[in-house]
Amino acid sequence: MNSDSVAMIDLSGKMHKLETVCIFGTGDFGRSLGLRLLQSGYNVVYGSRAPKNSLLLPKESKVMTHAAAACDAHVVFVAVQREHYGFLSSLASDLKGKVLVDVSNNLKRGLYPESNAEYLNKLVPGATVVKAFNTISAWALQSGGLDANRQVLICGDRADAKQQVMDIAQSLGFTAQDKGSLRAAAELEDLPLQLFPLWRLPLNIAICLTAFIFFYALTRNVIYERVTNGKDIAFRIMISLANKAFPIVSLVMLALCYLPGALAGFLQLYNGTKYRRFPDWLDRWMLCRKQLGLLALAFGFLHVLYTLVIPIRYYVRYRINVYTISLVKDNKTYEFDNTAAWRYDSYYSMGILGFGLFVLLGITSLPSVSNSLNWREFRFVQSKLGYITLLLCTAHTFLYGWDRFLKPTSYRWWMPPEYMLSLVVPCVVLILKLILITPCVDRNVTRIRQGWERQGKT
Ligand code: HEM
Repeated sequence: MNSDSVAMIDLSGKMHKLETVCIFGTGDFGRSLGLRLLQSGYNVVYGSRAPKNSLLLPKESKVMTHAAAACDAHVVFVAVQREHYGFLSSLASDLKGKVLVDVSNNLKRGLYPESNAEYLNKLVPGATVVKAFNTISAWALQSGGLDANRQVLICGDRADAKQQVMDIAQSLGFTAQDKGSLRAAAELEDLPLQLFPLWRLPLNIAICLTAFIFFYALTRNVIYERVTNGKDIAFRIMISLANKAFPIVSLVMLALCYLPGALAGFLQLYNGTKYRRFPDWLDRWMLCRKQLGLLALAFGFLHVLYTLVIPIRYYVRYRINVYTISLVKDNKTYEFDNTAAWRYDSYYSMGILGFGLFVLLGITSLPSVSNSLNWREFRFVQSKLGYITLLLCTAHTFLYGWDRFLKPTSYRWWMPPEYMLSLVVPCVVLILKLILITPCVDRNVTRIRQGWERQGKT
């Protein structure tokens, strides 16, 4: 790096001029990157085939031929498509010793045998290639990356070159994450081609669970009634069955957010170390916990909305009217049942409290909120309050079911009531957690998480 290129703000707060950065490519991305660099205090010089025709570029930047621009800067961003990389080999001598930042992406996976960054490395062997900024859009660069993803993933074979690119990313307001050597470039180039990669597993789980619970409830309720009593109660699909499937999926998915953490605790206990990698499936599961939780919250929301309309449903009003009239006809009174009053109020209360905490969990998982929490606060909310939420929602379901599991009529075609199915995973998670927090187990897990290793374990 040139001595006059050191950037920064001195203690008196004055901004020094930052280094000159070169950008090859005057397309959307190149323009937005240049603007952002200029706003952050860098000098920007563009390398273009036709310097005189580049009217849309930021005013404060300079435009030159590729060779002249490359001479002016140590870091060169290559913001052109891979198909046009050919001209770079003719600039090999101008680019010798420079850091080339490959920001390119492909339109499809597997188009080329090697990643664009590795190809660039072959074309200009005298330069050091760093892959970065390919997961950042031109729009994110213009909008300040506040609403879009702020993470710049970086990989390359030389640590000093990566550090220079990381410094630039950080001074542009992004957070930089080192993803390893240039071999990781193929993986980084695949990322923008994936549609919601972390949502895929949670969405599949949600769809499969909803379909399973829905058809289970359909068989137990509508089809059973039709076959055994000849009654058509298919209208219940719209609200009653939906209001079974949604809360059950919500509860099971909430439990699935906490199950991998508990399993990881037991694995660490078994391995006697925290330094052994978790199996891939567990890693993948842990990575998508936030998405699982947000989907669970969405299903919980639907359950609350469906519950709100219960009193105004035609069927419910009809049933109440028929029952009241039958009491009047038979000259009977509706005795107040104290236990039922306690039970209903308790299960509503648990549901409301559980839902309240659930919403809090959802809010604190949003980046704008979680960024304002420190690590302990975030852990407290997501772990401790998360388990309390799970406990409350499980208690809500237990109280809702009450003694139904004891009644033989609840087992239609030997199929237990839906709420019993929904309790299996949450109960497993709560029992595992209970074991993990017992003092003797907790002591061991804490020691392992602080770096202690059992003798003989690698
Ligand atoms: C069932 C109310 C939040 C899980 C019910 C039912 C009501 C209700 C009235 C009975 C529905 C019926 O008879 O068809 C509420 C209220 C909530 C709330 C007022 C909060 C404002 C939650 C949350 C969860 C949940 C957050 C889970 C995460 C369940 C489950 C059932 C149930 C699993 C049993 C469904 C079945 O088998 O029919 N709830 N609930 N509830 N609720 Fe909630």
